[in-house]
Amino acid sequence: MISLTNKPEWTIPGPSTLPLIGPTLNAISFGKDCIGYSNQLFKTYGNVVSLAASGGTNLYSADTDCPGTILAYGPEIVRQVTNQHHIYHKRPLSGTLYRQKDKSKRTQPLNNFGVGLFGVNEEEHLQQRKLMMPAFHKTKVESYRDEMVMMTQSEIDQLSTDQPCEISQLMQRLTLRIATKTLFGEDINTVDSTAGEVLQEILNCQRSSSIKLFPFDIPGLAFHRYLNLLAQYETKIKKIIADKRATGANDNDVLSMLIQARDEESGHPLTEEELIAHTGVIFLAGHETTANALTWTIFLLSQHPQITGDLVNELDSVLHGEAPTLEQLHQLPLLDRVIKESMRILTSVPWNGRVTSETTELGGYELPKGTEVFVSIYHTHHMSEIYPDPEAFKPERWETINPSIYEYNPFSAGPRLCLGATFAMMEIKIVLAMLLQCFRWEYVPGQTIDRAGVLSIKPKYGLSMMVRSQDREFNNGVGNVEGNIRETVNLPSR
Ligand code: HEM
Repeated sequence: MISLTNKPEWTIPGPSTLPLIGPTLNAISFGKDCIGYSNQLFKTYGNVVSLAASGGTNLYSADTDCPGTILAYGPEIVRQVTNQHHIYHKRPLSGTLYRQKDKSKRTQPLNNFGVGLFGVNEEEHLQQRKLMMPAFHKTKVESYRDEMVMMTQSEIDQLSTDQPCEISQLMQRLTLRIATKTLFGEDINTVDSTAGEVLQEILNCQRSSSIKLFPFDIPGLAFHRYLNLLAQYETKIKKIIADKRATGANDNDVLSMLIQARDEESGHPLTEEELIAHTGVIFLAGHETTANALTWTIFLLSQHPQITGDLVNELDSVLHGEAPTLEQLHQLPLLDRVIKESMRILTSVPWNGRVTSETTELGGYELPKGTEVFVSIYHTHHMSEIYPDPEAFKPERWETINPSIYEYNPFSAGPRLCLGATFAMMEIKIVLAMLLQCFRWEYVPGQTIDRAGVLSIKPKYGLSMMVRSQDREFNNGVGNVEGNIRETVNLPSR
């Protein structure tokens, strides 16, 4: 329907906004607890809602004329959005900061940062993705097994029993080491400041809301520091690329594979800009997501002693205290089910973000061109029609269910299915198998476990666990969990 102002009429239900400030408050509420806030909206308005009735929030899109932002869930929505590649476009992860990209020489790195596969769509995306596929092929990924084991062992060696451990920090450090080593061939324990560490700092900096509110390149402001970090990253990565090119780029890391990649038709390699952009995105997409999946799995196990006991028995009987070999990774069915269930109930990436490239229809509503669309993987994973008793952590449910990719999609679906899914699953299995055989991870009672994050969900205030020798006292530390995590998963009584 077209209104008198020639602006398409916005018919999607959602909360109203305050005069003058428009959708800002709604966007802030979403940013503070995207799961809790969207739970309320879905309950009130149905499975397709506007985040703000008065217009777009620009949480994702850099377009100045974004007409609206919608949240939606359910297998049919997932199917339409993930498969209609030509309608639902992805955008660079830098969001509105992307607008600054050509303002000065200092802002030019924004052309590359968070862009990579996220900044290309349709044919260009398929072509770039095809070039990257060999670096993520199963056999290539399997060649990283030894490095994953080595890094995990090195972290295990630094842990002391009967001491508290900030498990989300441990997982961040470990996945950062693995990502940096397998992506660039650097170990953060041996090189002073690695490209991976700078990328991590950029990501931390990008989370500060002041960088979007005050995008001015003035010393003292977060945006100034952000640009410094981007420049630092570009210098580092250019040097790594030059060094690898000089020695024939035959190291066993993703960047070397990307340097060697050639387009099938033209025979052209990726340009330096493309290499910078792709490595940044691979790092951003792969490191925190995996760390959070690991953190939540350890947390869920700490509150489910029977499952943990069975899992440790399985690990012991197959691995006998050793790290899993590639063959053994396929002989651990309970480990597989535990991870599947953990990534269902506390999916690390809760939303798929898109922007419509033309007017389209979704869930019975017309979406104008430029609409921001957030499809909830989380809420699809919590539908009782698909998963009876959805808030119960029940790895055994996977013995009898076989949901479609649109019903279960922690790694998304369609042409943008996570390129690193095999890598991530192997890493998660290796790290868990090693950590659970060595130690019993005991929840430190009385913590508030609140969800935080929009790109990837993590415990807002961290997660402290006591590192115990593997004495099989799995009932210790069960209970006494406070916080909104109790809305996501049924936990033992307080
Ligand atoms: C538990 C860990 C992980 C989860 C839950 C996860 C999840 C996802 C999801 C949901 C998407 C699709 C986003 C969308 O369609 O909007 C995605 C894309 C992507 N992921 Fe992962 N990911 C994980 C680990 C990794 C790792 C380890 C890597 C690389 C080493 C990686 C590389 C990528 C890349 C390159 C894309 C973009 C694909 C494209 O646009 O064609 N991810 N991931």
